[in-house]
Amino acid sequence: MKNRVIQFIKRGEIVTLCNVPPTRTLLEVLREDLNCTGTKEGCNEGDCGACTVVLGEADGGKLKYSAVNSCIRMAHSIDGLALWTVEDLAADDGTQHPAQQALVQSHGSQCGFCTPGFVMSLFGMYQNHVVQGEPISRELAQAELSGNLCRCTGYRPILEAAQQMEKLPQVRVDEPDLLQKLELLAQAGRGLEPDLAYISPRTLTALLSARAAHPDAQIVAGCTDVGLWINKMHKQFDKVLDVSKVKELRLIEDTPSHLSIGAAVTLTDAFAALVADRPQLHTFANRFAGLPVRNSGTLGGNVANGSPIGDSMPLLIALGSRVVLMSEKSGQVVQRELPLETLYTGYRTNVMTADEVLAWIKVPKAVEGEWSRVYKISKRFDDDISAVCLALNLHQEDGLVKHISIGVGGVAATPVRALQTEAALLGQAWTQSTVQQAMASLREEFQPISDMRASSTYRTLVLGNLLQRFWLESQGEQQINLESFTLEGEPA
Ligand SMILES: Cc1cc2nc3c(=O)[nH]c(=O)nc-3n(C[C@H](O)[C@H](O)[C@H](O)COP(=O)(O)OP(=O)(O)OC[C@H]3O[C@@H](n4cnc5c(N)ncnc54)[C@H](O)[C@@H]3O)c2cc1C
Ligand code: FES
Ligand code: FES
Repeated sequence: MKNRVIQFIKRGEIVTLCNVPPTRTLLEVLREDLNCTGTKEGCNEGDCGACTVVLGEADGGKLKYSAVNSCIRMAHSIDGLALWTVEDLAADDGTQHPAQQALVQSHGSQCGFCTPGFVMSLFGMYQNHVVQGEPISRELAQAELSGNLCRCTGYRPILEAAQQMEKLPQVRVDEPDLLQKLELLAQAGRGLEPDLAYISPRTLTALLSARAAHPDAQIVAGCTDVGLWINKMHKQFDKVLDVSKVKELRLIEDTPSHLSIGAAVTLTDAFAALVADRPQLHTFANRFAGLPVRNSGTLGGNVANGSPIGDSMPLLIALGSRVVLMSEKSGQVVQRELPLETLYTGYRTNVMTADEVLAWIKVPKAVEGEWSRVYKISKRFDDDISAVCLALNLHQEDGLVKHISIGVGGVAATPVRALQTEAALLGQAWTQSTVQQAMASLREEFQPISDMRASSTYRTLVLGNLLQRFWLESQGEQQINLESFTLEGEPA
């Protein structure tokens, strides 16, 4: 298998790399091949943010900037994009970028491991907010720095630096020039031949043909799960099929009845659409990993990966979502649509055949009178994986439960729907005594395991308690959820 050429733009110049193996990470290329050692390796698993870089891509005639973790990003995935590392921010005469100056002035610079990552997240924030004339609130700074950890000291000066950036003289990227160069790279159309080790189709037709021809290739999207198999489990793949550049799968179709989210839509964009439809999901969306992971990872990757503690599936199940699987058979496109909860057959196994890909996730939109909530229980508030996740969607009529769907994570080998508890609730009066019986039913319905995230007893107990919280919230008790508290701990 041939390794295709990778081309991207760094500091205004086109960088060309040859012979990069399919599973070589962007961080390895930066540090070992390009000698850009400003980007650091901390955890090598997407958790700490030391390796944060910023990517730029053309999006509807504008540049879209995304801070991502280079340690779990395959180098081939940045073909055709613009890249900034911490070396690229200062001007040619050495003048610091506002992201750097603000950090220095706020006494926010810390050790050489975490600081470059913080600077790059600040740069991403600068491009996405300051340059657009949007002020950076403390809450926004905290949300956007949630993927950057410092193991030793305080975050206050760094959060202050985020808010100081807008007060410094503005520095602008030459976007017209960059967009022109990106267009040149796009026209070159390199690396689309079928016999390559890293196949990155641009269209759905090309993806389905590639899947049919290479059922043995490892599919990747944002690589935020697969990157860990490579770095931590030392898996190597001879052939990789990257779905992240397929233009049809990067779209969100907004119809009166549902959102049809392409499998390659990033978690950032998918959650933005879901939150626009159901604003109560805002906190939950921000608690899915940290921003750099959400900027790379896709909704399709989360669903296809099928982890029992994956966050989006309980929510999507409760909302009645369906998935569309597609393949090419004898030159014809074949598709099937199924309820999300029926996708899974066991621990990280599903009904997808070797020639199929997940193409769309169809999420019914909010309807008047629905009461839906999702609760994530994890050891750490930010950037942590769920121990238990419970999502519920309720419709009442005349005080009776007309419809209830319940999605659960962390209690079985797959994300599941709590069918027994739904049946116990359906048609009943929505009262405390009904809910207490349903809590008992929910606790009996699953037999979770004990692991490092939580014991079986804790998971069972908390599951019922979350149903009680749902009931209390439905009765107007708002002080029991995290959204009712400000960062300072004062009720809003
Ligand atoms: C630091 C960190 C924090 C995280 N926090 C969370 C969290 O809070 N909640 C959570 O749920 N997850 C979390 N994750 C896991 C991960 O980010 C998500 O599962 C993410 O959605 C995976 O998407 P991806 O595009 O990166 O998938 P990839 O890693 O590229 O792929 C994952 C799997 O899906 C398959 N796949 C991808 N796309 C398709 C497709 N279109 N068709 C068929 N198969 C496909 C791949 O073959 C692979 O098996 C975290 C990960 C990291 C590193
Ligand atoms: S090195 Fe820690 S997130 Fe990449
Ligand atoms: S990790 Fe850098 S100062 Fe704490």
